[in-house]
Amino acid sequence: MTTFQEAGIPSGSELIGVMFPQEMILQMMGTDPQPVLDAHAAKCPMHEVAPGWFTVMRMQECVEINRNRAVIGNGSTWGMGGDHKLIPLDIDGELHTHFRKLIDPVFAPKRIAPLAERIAQQAGDLIDRFVADGEAELFSAFCQPLPSLIFLSILGLPADELPFFLEIKEGILRHEPFADPADIELRQIAAREQCSGYFGKLYDERTSSGDLGDDLLGWLIGSSVDGHQLTRDQFLNIMLLMIVGGLDTVSASLSCIMSWLARHPEQRRWILEDASRWPLAIEELLRFESPVPQGFRQTTEDIEVNGTSFAAGTRFLMSWPAINLDPEAFVNPLEVDLQRSPNAHVVFASGWHRCLGSHLARLELRVAMEEFHKRIPEYSIKPGVELQYIPLGVRQVMNLPIVWDD
Ligand code: HEM
Repeated sequence: MTTFQEAGIPSGSELIGVMFPQEMILQMMGTDPQPVLDAHAAKCPMHEVAPGWFTVMRMQECVEINRNRAVIGNGSTWGMGGDHKLIPLDIDGELHTHFRKLIDPVFAPKRIAPLAERIAQQAGDLIDRFVADGEAELFSAFCQPLPSLIFLSILGLPADELPFFLEIKEGILRHEPFADPADIELRQIAAREQCSGYFGKLYDERTSSGDLGDDLLGWLIGSSVDGHQLTRDQFLNIMLLMIVGGLDTVSASLSCIMSWLARHPEQRRWILEDASRWPLAIEELLRFESPVPQGFRQTTEDIEVNGTSFAAGTRFLMSWPAINLDPEAFVNPLEVDLQRSPNAHVVFASGWHRCLGSHLARLELRVAMEEFHKRIPEYSIKPGVELQYIPLGVRQVMNLPIVWDD
């Protein structure tokens, strides 16, 4: 497998490293990075961070770029999949449409809604394990296992293999701040090989036995795209993105939301007076925390964005969190308004590559919040603890120790 460096391509982590000054990245490890990020976005909304690479930090530019038919996703740059294009994130055009048509129905609201009971049950089981203790490290006890176990159950994968899948997604996504990009890449290669090894074996066993299995994976292996049977490589690329997308983002979002609620008891109590307040409150906390830090776009033709011309081949680094703080798009964006409506944020991106797991994510977040607060309505951050967030990559609280009266 060729590395980024051998191919002469800046890696995602290198680009994010240059997107923001280093001292700002350190500030983003705190509980309230929003004012810092917003001040930076106000100063340089479209900033050339490397030749031909521009940051996008405001809604107007974001909307114009994502609506432009000449703009594609990751383009020729490698992403999390290295030189393997992850499906559907790293592909575009008709092929992208074909794959979205295949996978979207699996995560459509109607298919997802019946999972509410399973999520509530799983949340209850996890809470049972620590509710009598009066304290818990919430990330490892609740935020991480809940969506991960649900996702493995959707895919039909064994729950006891969760540590193995978490190791894969950590290897792809989670690295020490300011780690050497070459080391990051070696970890990613190892994680990708582990993932391909697992799903390659599963694919080979099922196809050679002639029994593909009556679960989601069997359905996927047997499916056709654009009139062609899904290939082994395509299957492996889809599974890698599923593991990364399904096991990381909801856990990270849950940790950000629960940390905010633990630090804002009055607003939390206001939501708890009426459980129907959860959906808007969750939407607003997603906007404010915006866990996914960036996306990549590339123009295939010369285009104009908000009056500025960009040549074909220009790359755009979309900063979803900065866009979600745009004062032109949101009233008082630096304030959390738990009743904000409409709330047209881009936490799940926008355009062709908009998140296909957003319905599942929203359902998991809502049910998790309802179930947790039924059992533990009053809690706070353990005294003396200073929370630290992951500064690069998907925003997440590293440790979330909370206490309550048992
Ligand atoms: C709160 C949780 C989540 C957040 C904040 C989130 C955010 C995002 C964002 C910002 C993108 C666009 C990436 C880009 O354009 O560069 C995306 C794409 C994607 N997400 Fe999510 N996601 C979440 C949950 C999930 C879940 C649970 C799944 C599992 C099915 C998932 C699967 C995907 C896939 C497959 C794509 C690629 C779509 C495409 O390129 O067409 N996401 N997500």
